[in-house]
Formats: sequence, structure tokens, C-alpha cells
Amino acid sequence: MSFPDAVQEAWHMVALSRDVKRGSVRKIALCNTPVALFRSEAGLGALIDRCPHRNYPLSEGRVREGALECPYHGWRFDPDGACQSVPGCLAETAQDTRLRAQSLRVWEGHGAIYATLSDAAPEQPPLPPDFGNPELDHFWWQQGTWRGRAFDAIENVMDPFHTNHLHDGFIRRRDKRLPVDLVVTSHGDGIDMTIKQTQPDMGLMSRFLERDRECSVSRYYTPATVQARWEGKDKLTLCVTAIFTPATDGTFTPFARFSTPKGIAPGWLKQAAIRLFLAPVVAQDRRALERQHEVMTYFGHPRFATGPGDILGDRLHRLWKGERLARGAEPPVKAEL
Ligand code: FES
Ligand SMILES: [Fe+2]
Repeated sequence: MSFPDAVQEAWHMVALSRDVKRGSVRKIALCNTPVALFRSEAGLGALIDRCPHRNYPLSEGRVREGALECPYHGWRFDPDGACQSVPGCLAETAQDTRLRAQSLRVWEGHGAIYATLSDAAPEQPPLPPDFGNPELDHFWWQQGTWRGRAFDAIENVMDPFHTNHLHDGFIRRRDKRLPVDLVVTSHGDGIDMTIKQTQPDMGLMSRFLERDRECSVSRYYTPATVQARWEGKDKLTLCVTAIFTPATDGTFTPFARFSTPKGIAPGWLKQAAIRLFLAPVVAQDRRALERQHEVMTYFGHPRFATGPGDILGDRLHRLWKGERLARGAEPPVKAEL
């Protein structure tokens, strides 16, 4: 199994800036490709985790004089992959393309590091709305690499029906459902679902965090980003951008960016509250995605029955594979959440 070209060739977030300090190296995986991510005084570098000399993993090396040094014979590679030096040899190596390590393009901004395996990817990663909006307080949340498939995590976030059940009491409730209107809008390269409701959710988190909610919108931005926005009477109350970077076929690295309007409460307090309320919800989703993946692995492949609540049908999967949808809003679907 491997990833669709549209996923394989895109930009993906691979780390938080704060987790790649100067002088440090991290081993990461991106779409089944091991990568050595490092930061030196010469900048940020992402090299395929294979020394071109005798194939030692570069991620086990050290950062020396602006370069990543392979532990085996000590060849040093610049962030762009050029072989800066071969110890013991006086030859000039930096211009010798045969000695280069394979490098990935990287982009850094708003506390995030992105990388792409493809030369065909655009100049910069496309970012969702408000990602760097200075009028909002932002914070990042990262919890390592999870077992499961990135695609199933995207579907999980886009699916409101599991929230009553799996997250009973936290987001919504099993036993007290509220009438809602669900409106699906296709945007060609993305899709969103708006949940319109007149009463606030019954879960703890909703009561605390989004008292004046009128509607919430979850939108999928291909290939691996979902942004959920809660809108109050006249403005945004909370925006969560979740990014699910495919690491391998059976693992992914989730990143979440929380954005809230400045001024309601100090940033650190909002951050503490959001973390406190979301920690159990995140743990429930993590476990569900792991268990789902175990079963799919056992049976060899996913076989999904699409039920009446799966109103996005197979459209998320079609977008994931790089297909485009006809644009337009659909009539509201009445449901209880
Ligand atoms: S294997 Fe890396 S320097 Fe020889
Ligand atoms: Fe969930």
C-alpha cells in the first residue's frame, strides 16, 4: 500500500519549530520516507535518511559546523544536501553532485516546519484561513506519532456523529441529542459541513468554551488539514486547525493549532483550559483510530459500510486521492446530535 500521488507530492507539516532546536537532529517519516530533519547555523535541513556514501542513517549523526555529519565516515552535508567535506581527504567535495545527500524542500512559518518530497509542489505550502492571523491568540499542540491512518483521522474530525457516542459527556451526549441542520458545501478541492443548532451542546467542553455558538463549520483542505470553526453571534469564538501528516501507511503525526480571539481571557489561561478539556477527547480518538487500524490490518483492507449519518459519503476519500468535486451547497439534512 502507498499514498495517492496527490498526498505523496504535497507539502506536509513535519514538526513544530520549537522541537527542532539549533544543533539538533530528528528522525521523522513522511509518506513512508525516513527523513533526517536538522537545524544548524546554516539553517534548517531535511535530508533523506540515507547517507549517499555507505547508507548509514544520517538522523543518527551530529550537527557540526553548519552541516549534518554522518556517524560512519564523517561526511558532512549542508542543509541543501551538498557534501561539505570528506574527513581525511583534501579534495573539494561541495560541487560534486555524485556525493550529495538527497534533500527535501522545507518551509518554516507560524511555529511550523513543512517539507515536501516533490519538486512539483508549489513554492510554499498553502495555509488555511487565519493560520497566521495576528488578531488571534494561537498555540500548538502536538502529541507524537499515532498508530492508524492519516485518512481515518481526517474522517474522524469531519464526522460529527461519533461525538455523541465516543465522546459522551465531553462534546455531546448520547442520551440527550439536539436537533441540528447539517449543510454540506463542496468547494472543488475541499468540502465543508456546517452544523446549525439553536441550543448549545450538552457536553462539558461546549458549555465552557463556546457559550454563544450559533454554528460550527468543519472544512477539509486537501490533502491532510481539517479546520473546525465555531462562530458566535457575530464573530469567531474558536478555530482548531488539525493537520494529519502521513508518516507511514500505519502511522501519522497529528498537529493541532488553536486560535481564539484576543482579549476574552489571557492566552495561557485559554490554552490551559483547552488542553484540560480536550485531553480526554484526544485520548478517546487516539484509541479509536488505533483499534480501527488493528482490525483493518487483521482483515487485510478496509471495508466500510456507508450509513445514513455518513453524509459526506466517499467524498473525503475522493478528495484525498486527488479528485475534484463539483462546487455547490446542498439542501440541509435534519439530524440529532
Ligand atoms: S556511510 Fe556516511 S560517511 Fe560513510
Ligand atoms: Fe473525535
